[in-house]
Amino acid sequence: MADDAEISSLLASGYAHPVSRMWQNNRQLTKEMLIYPLFVVMEEEAEEDIPSLPGQKRWGINSLIRFVDTLVKKGLTSVLLFGIVPDELKDPRGTWADHPDTPVIVAVKALRKHFPNLFIICDTCLCEYTSTGHCGLLRDHDGSIQRHESVQRLAEVSVAYAKAGAHAVAPSDMIDGRIVEIKKALLASDLAYRTMVISYSAKFAGSLYGPFRDAAASCPQSGDRKAYQLPPGARGLARRALRRDITEGADAFIMKPSTFYLDVIADAANICADYPIAAYQVSGEYAMIYAAAEKGYLDLQTMAFESAQGVLRAGANLLITYFAPQFLDWLDTRE
Ligand code: PBG
Ligand code: ZN
Repeated sequence: MADDAEISSLLASGYAHPVSRMWQNNRQLTKEMLIYPLFVVMEEEAEEDIPSLPGQKRWGINSLIRFVDTLVKKGLTSVLLFGIVPDELKDPRGTWADHPDTPVIVAVKALRKHFPNLFIICDTCLCEYTSTGHCGLLRDHDGSIQRHESVQRLAEVSVAYAKAGAHAVAPSDMIDGRIVEIKKALLASDLAYRTMVISYSAKFAGSLYGPFRDAAASCPQSGDRKAYQLPPGARGLARRALRRDITEGADAFIMKPSTFYLDVIADAANICADYPIAAYQVSGEYAMIYAAAEKGYLDLQTMAFESAQGVLRAGANLLITYFAPQFLDWLDTRE
């Protein structure tokens, strides 16, 4: 005869079948949760490999449309766009961030035309367009960030992306006060009613954006981003940034990086409980998993799912990931 303690200590009976295992997930990964980051360049047929981001490419507008077509057919619902321009077009104020011919604006228009149901997010920052490689405008004498001028400029760029047809802008610069400035500019242009503002609220400085900066040629020419991205140990600052961006009018939130910051995602799920919360599995996280799998140390698919499950369990309900194309396949075939 089994005693009560033995009966109540049985957990395995609750997850003995693949279906009951799935029922135990706090949140199930679905295709609709995936947001795929894409790099767009000027040359229309470009399809350039990115050495530090294996499997990812810089796309020209024509090759981009062909590629996205295959993904939309598999169930992709949202993309996050990054533009890349040649060095000779960069200047201190990032003029090409919102130039009418800049790759992101060209891409937004074309994607809207070809994929009427696709949700298009523009990463909104200056570092891909400034000669300094910084996310804002700098003071000449000491290279520090000019807060007011920077957020004005980011607001201008946001309006240009919204006008081009972006469904959302996602300011990734982390400069104080940009959410409210962007909201005001969208209101003044009568674009606020249809433009979501997704704030990268908790974005930490560190080493994990390295491959992205190679991909986007957006490395700071001098100094680093420590004056505007958060110190990795600072959970309190992240919580304050989340609360602040709620009061400034953000519609949704991005946490990044993801895997090393699960406590921050859990904080966001709590502080921003009434908002969509996206975890960004950044370039360095992707590269780590990819490289380890290539070496045979880890299994790629298992690791990708495990990392996704971690951030969903912590509280995210959206996942920005370079694995999105693979997830679309894996979610079809996984038992
Ligand atoms: C631009 C931006 C960066 C990332 C997203 N937007 C780079 C940075 O802040 O240095 C990183 C994305 C990634 O690493 O995948 N500010
Ligand atoms: Zn930037």
